[in-house]
Amino acid sequence: MHHPDRRNLFAGVVALALLVVPAGAVRAAAEAPSIHLAGMHPVYLDAAQPVEARVEDLLSRLTLEEKISLVHGDSKFTTAAIPRLDLPRRWMSDGPHGVREDVNANSWYPAGRTDDFATCLPVGIALAATWNPEAAQAYGDVIGEEALKRGKNIMLGPGVNLMRTPLNGRNAEYLGEDPWLASRLVVEYIRAVQAHDVASCVKHFAANNQETKRNSINVEMDERTLREIYLPVFEAAVKEAHVWAVMGAYNKFRGQFCCENDYLLNRVLKQEWGFPGLVMSDWGGTHDTGEAAAGGLDLEMGTNRPYNQFYLADAFRDGLQKGEYPMAALDDKVRRNLRVMIATHVLDGRPEGSINTKAHQAAARRVAEEAMVLLKNDGPTLPLDPAKLTSIAVIGDDAVRSQAYGGDSARIKAFYEISPLDGILRRVGASVNVTFSEGYAKDGDAAALAARAVQAAKTADVAIVVAGLTRQRPFDCEGADRHDLKLPYGQDELIRQVVQANPRTIVVLVSGGPVEMDAWLDRVPAVVQAWYGGMEGGNALARLLFGDVNPSGKLPCTFPGRIEDTPAYAGGARAYPGESGTERYDEGLLVGYRWYDTKAIEPRFPFGFGLSYTTFAYSNLKLVAGADPKDPVVTVQFDLANTGTREGAEVAQVYVHQTSPSLPRPFKELKGFRKVFLQPGEKQTITLPLERRAFAFYDPAQGGWRAEKDVFRILVGSSSRDLRLQGDFPLPEAWLAPK
Ligand code: BGC
Repeated sequence: MHHPDRRNLFAGVVALALLVVPAGAVRAAAEAPSIHLAGMHPVYLDAAQPVEARVEDLLSRLTLEEKISLVHGDSKFTTAAIPRLDLPRRWMSDGPHGVREDVNANSWYPAGRTDDFATCLPVGIALAATWNPEAAQAYGDVIGEEALKRGKNIMLGPGVNLMRTPLNGRNAEYLGEDPWLASRLVVEYIRAVQAHDVASCVKHFAANNQETKRNSINVEMDERTLREIYLPVFEAAVKEAHVWAVMGAYNKFRGQFCCENDYLLNRVLKQEWGFPGLVMSDWGGTHDTGEAAAGGLDLEMGTNRPYNQFYLADAFRDGLQKGEYPMAALDDKVRRNLRVMIATHVLDGRPEGSINTKAHQAAARRVAEEAMVLLKNDGPTLPLDPAKLTSIAVIGDDAVRSQAYGGDSARIKAFYEISPLDGILRRVGASVNVTFSEGYAKDGDAAALAARAVQAAKTADVAIVVAGLTRQRPFDCEGADRHDLKLPYGQDELIRQVVQANPRTIVVLVSGGPVEMDAWLDRVPAVVQAWYGGMEGGNALARLLFGDVNPSGKLPCTFPGRIEDTPAYAGGARAYPGESGTERYDEGLLVGYRWYDTKAIEPRFPFGFGLSYTTFAYSNLKLVAGADPKDPVVTVQFDLANTGTREGAEVAQVYVHQTSPSLPRPFKELKGFRKVFLQPGEKQTITLPLERRAFAFYDPAQGGWRAEKDVFRILVGSSSRDLRLQGDFPLPEAWLAPK
């Protein structure tokens, strides 16, 4: 794509670079002296020097070829070493849920190593379902420590694209449908990873919300939607967590590929947000040397060509030498790469790290336990008491299928994986007779398998059907979207038959997002949403089913009744999956519960929903205006009590509704939450601050965030549709903040 204003853009970079780049920085490779021969201790190797001084010193020593080598890959997941200057190879690795196995340098085949196992954490949407920033911190901690041990410098995650449609094949990797929830988690995740001198790479920037035609689709949306829905999680990653790397998305945004997108990368990310780190391409997301040179890309990865033919390799060097691109553009990219390297102490020696420790296993289990959402529990059917059971029929392929290795780039070669069946067997021991029936087959006639499962259910005290998706295309896997929300392979019918044979049937859903449940939900007394629980998932599930832990997960995304009810679906093909190469986000701001609330559509299970084995009472709401009306504007205070007989955790949620906005706003928006652990009978006073931005919307006319002088209704509750307290807060003064 041709950009008439590229020259102006470069002009800015040149002006900046002239201030800092010493003359003679670009030397012929042949002249470059070895740092060892020089026998000195240069500034860039001196850990006591400020990062920027080290960056400038190192930059000044690099030849043109060396600089070029730092802005593109030299294998699937590395950039070249510069031995002359003691710069090691930089290693990157997927992914969001653990450190991926190594692949061959030049192909996607596994390298076949024996030292590239890792802890497999629950998937991103499961982390989001914990609604617990401390869980995100523990999660990031595991990734950081294991990345160190595996010698990785940059971890390609977290993935934070919002759930626009439940069909997106990668929803499992991401953090749900709400920017505030995802932001609070992502900030803790990234801080924890980066505390270990490992850079996080938040991805995919931006609007990569479907897999269908992901390499070419052009996304069009209005500026308010971009700012209020799709950018805030990235913004929090940059401004609050100081993430060191950002991965561009595959798709186009407003006509320009995201990895070369002047608006997203230069203007928003680097200029407005002041991002000092590096932008890398998604693997194969770079398309043009000139566009990449000017469009804000700092590191090209994964292009399907010989490395010297990458867009930012020989062609870039030649163009620089011919004066087609200013050297300052290269220096800016190199500076960003060096900054990340030096700030994460790659040149100073990093700690050794650790892998698959007891603490890591415990973190994986804890996140899985806190993530599982109890959707239904009539009776109550759960928890089960093993002392009162003699037999359990476990049914369904998902009870035994390994999930850790699914999902494509997010796959993990796990040290071990406790399946739901394993977890149940370990928990109940020999005292209960546990049978397992597959129930269905992915290919071929399953009637015999179903009949056997039904027979097992009939003769057991309780049936546990572990149903769901496969984590293979097109069911929760990179590279393809789901076709619909249905359970595949006849599982609906299987569940119907099982519950008919044994009314004491529990359905456990293993999936990265909602599935339709109409065929059986009214007959099944208990349903647990288990996500993909990582290598401790089966243990976590068993502990939840048998009451060792009390469910505390809440849905981070709406579970609609049917696909027809979902926001992206309503706009027809032009809205999803796109027409003539373009996809228009016609639903605008109304993503997730914002849609269901505003359009008064009843979801199957609402955002924020999740049951517990105990009960909680909310009381005594107070809205305490800030003494300094800036920070925070108001503190939401209320009492939360555990009124049941078990300890448990409640996620108290605060939503804000503006009563008379001058622009249309979603009916309400999540602006605060707290996960509170309470003993039976215990009561706590909870305080949640609301900053000014909690009241604001993005005003495109003003180019900034604006809160109006108006009455705001503060809604407090247990889910987006179970609001227990409310109060009105008149915002004392209008507020306008630049981006
Ligand atoms: C994915 C990225 C991933 C990269 C490297 C791409 O296909 O979109 O999320 O980090 O591959 O495996």
